[in-house]
Amino acid sequence: MDESTAVKQPSDLNVGQPHSARIYDYFLGGKDNFPADREAAEEILAVEPDAGFIARTNRAFVARTTRWLAGEVGVRQFLDVGTGIPASPNLHEIAQGIAPEARVVYVDNDSIVLVHARALLTSTPQGRTACLDADLQNP
Ligand SMILES: C[S@@+](CC[C@H](N)C(=O)[O-])C[C@H]1O[C@@H](n2cnc3c(N)ncnc32)[C@H](O)[C@@H]1O
Repeated sequence: MDESTAVKQPSDLNVGQPHSARIYDYFLGGKDNFPADREAAEEILAVEPDAGFIARTNRAFVARTTRWLAGEVGVRQFLDVGTGIPASPNLHEIAQGIAPEARVVYVDNDSIVLVHARALLTSTPQGRTACLDADLQNP
């Protein structure tokens, strides 16, 4: 088992404290969030009612762009930096739905995100997925 597949337990799994990736999951309509995250999300929505729409629009952009890159452009290697908690359809599901041999590396620096990602972001037999714990600011 190498660094990309080793399951690290999140040291910061404090469900009583709002967490940005789980708030985003709530905005997307996901189930990987807790009351503290939902309360924080509702507070954000109170001052920015479009926050949920913005999150869903961002997610739709990722899907649309991946479809275009895998389909029309023919890209077969994807690097998703700032993966977030998985929300179907995930990038590899879209890319490998078009090209089963596509390879996807997910990168995030959040241990909670990585535990979800390593459990759920599994590849087609022909392709590959990997999840890396890394920081965008340290390319
Ligand atoms: C809003 S979520 C994005 C989810 C997904 N990419 C999407 O478009 O739906 C942002 C993610 O970026 C991650 N992130 C923030 N700063 C980062 C950094 N410096 N390096 C790697 N990941 C980072 C967070 O942990 C979080 O999971």
